[in-house]
Amino acid sequence: MRHNALVTPPPPRPTPPAAAGSRLAVDGGGPTAEMFRARLVRWWPDLLEGLVDLYGPERAPALGERLVDLAEEAYAARSPGLHSRDLERMLAPHWLQDPSMVGYAAYTERFAGNLAGLVDQIPYLRELGVRYLHLMPLLRPRDGDNDGGYAVADYRSVRPDLGTMDDLAELATELHEAGISLTLDLVLNHVAREHDWAVRARAGDPAYREYFHVFPDRQLPDAYERTLPEVFPDFAPGNFTWDDELDGWVWTTFNEWQWDVNWANPEVLVEYAQIILELANRGVDVLRLDAIAFMWKRMGTDCQGEPEVHSITQVLKALTRIVCPSVAFKAEAIVAPTKLLPYLGTGVHTGKVSDLAYHNSLMVQIWSMLAARDVRLAAHALGNLPPKPLAATWLTYVRCHDDIGWAIMDEDAAAVGLGGHAHRSFLARWYAGEFPGSPGRGLVFQYNPATDDRRTSGAAASLIGLEAAEESGDTAAIALTADALRLAHALIYGWGGVPVIWSGDELGQPNDPHWADEPGHEEDNRWAHRPRLDRARAAERHTPGTVAHRVFTDLVHLGEARAALPHLHAGVETHIGPVDDPGILVTVRDHPIGRFVGLHNVTAQRRTWPGHRAHEYGVAESVDHLSGAALEWDAGGNIVLEPYAVRWLTTP
Ligand code: GLC
Repeated sequence: MRHNALVTPPPPRPTPPAAAGSRLAVDGGGPTAEMFRARLVRWWPDLLEGLVDLYGPERAPALGERLVDLAEEAYAARSPGLHSRDLERMLAPHWLQDPSMVGYAAYTERFAGNLAGLVDQIPYLRELGVRYLHLMPLLRPRDGDNDGGYAVADYRSVRPDLGTMDDLAELATELHEAGISLTLDLVLNHVAREHDWAVRARAGDPAYREYFHVFPDRQLPDAYERTLPEVFPDFAPGNFTWDDELDGWVWTTFNEWQWDVNWANPEVLVEYAQIILELANRGVDVLRLDAIAFMWKRMGTDCQGEPEVHSITQVLKALTRIVCPSVAFKAEAIVAPTKLLPYLGTGVHTGKVSDLAYHNSLMVQIWSMLAARDVRLAAHALGNLPPKPLAATWLTYVRCHDDIGWAIMDEDAAAVGLGGHAHRSFLARWYAGEFPGSPGRGLVFQYNPATDDRRTSGAAASLIGLEAAEESGDTAAIALTADALRLAHALIYGWGGVPVIWSGDELGQPNDPHWADEPGHEEDNRWAHRPRLDRARAAERHTPGTVAHRVFTDLVHLGEARAALPHLHAGVETHIGPVDDPGILVTVRDHPIGRFVGLHNVTAQRRTWPGHRAHEYGVAESVDHLSGAALEWDAGGNIVLEPYAVRWLTTP
């Protein structure tokens, strides 16, 4: 293990005397009407404004009142512990931006069996430095195939094999005590065909038919289809599904059993407002707003990211700020980089929508740099992203439960002399191991012959070549690919934001070879990279010489180094430094405390970074905060970087 005397995690925060404040407590303290009023006065304008945008000035005030009634009820029902959490977070509004935040994402059953089992895994998460846990959809889905739980049949109960709502609340309490925040998915673009609303719609209840987008014939669906893309062209082509019982075409962006709900109907908003407050009162800290881009439909557009999406989020955000301000929103918007920022709040919605969003572009560029062994495209694309809103935070990741869509923009590719399509196709083929020299073991996901687009499934270790190296037993190849994996993780830990590890990647676990065996999964190879946590491998994390030990230790160490560097607070923007060597990506973060410079050699060769740059940036004297070692210089006065080396430097 690399040891670094300089990197000591911050000491535990001192706690005040236990009895302090007890003389002030009236009726044991707890929530007050005054607090509720104060928050309401503060956030009512946001709430009303959003409702006016969505439903017009006539309907908005009455709707607002209904929402405030719900808010009051939820506030009264909220537990004292959660009210305290709200207060703590109001005093630390940047909690998600703290450099000590490290995230982990997993399917409950694949990681720990069930919710009770998860409590037993808390020490494992703590060992990894985790402070944010995203549990994949666990509310009761439809039976049979349910898109990994993204087809919810009941938002008010937990999947029976995982436990109950009480188990969920219990888990949240345990996580909170361990300093870990709980993230759950809120699937709000669609419900399962088996959800009660859909059942009632099919039974002929006109009020519930209005919860969905239903069309008697193909006229409007055909008109919409002219500008709509397909999300799952392979197994769910088209965006509408005929339903005999409904006697109509229903909008189904994803699978035919995932019915898009109609947010133009305010009753839908009221329903979800209630669901959100209930989940918040169970102790959920972050709601991942699934497929948020698709929530509003407009003829002649791709029906993604319409302005109303942000008004909806604004209303829901205002509501949580009144009832449960410790709750944050994460936007799952996997859209072009230029279209992403509105989800974090721009223009009239600044500071009023989601707190977190996936940095999809960084993820794609990491893989692109590693395949091409060249940083020029990444430097151009990442360097030209507009800055994110100040209070917002990136969720950075090497990969997640979904496939990797090769979101390289044609303009960016052209700017560095590449063809966009050719490069996307290269990446998909590289990671599928179709190129000579590629050690990748990924799988092609959703090949679309019409556009020749390919997406990629695969665990990080399989994509990067660690699986192939481990299988061959070649220790040099294992070390080199593990170095590459460490570099990928250093980029997400060193960017600013919440780096999230996908379960299994912390052990270098490869693709699940049996992914297709489970009924309903045969056609969806994303299951290859959602493996059950390999317990034997997990046990090896303490055994030097194993892949598990190497990768796990690297991550623990990155987390510790990160927590000790205030420069990595997510409020600060990452800039890209000049490309002096196409094999080295330079990141620069100017924090008021000083400058941080990250050096990343994305190649398998030794490279050098010009000494004059080190002086220009004021980091020539810096030690590397990852190794604790001084920089290595060559005879020409340049800084030496071994294959896949990373250096975290700061000004004095
Ligand atoms: C999101 C999820 C994905 C799911 C889709 C439909 O994109 O990440 O796994 O298939 O939404 O709910």
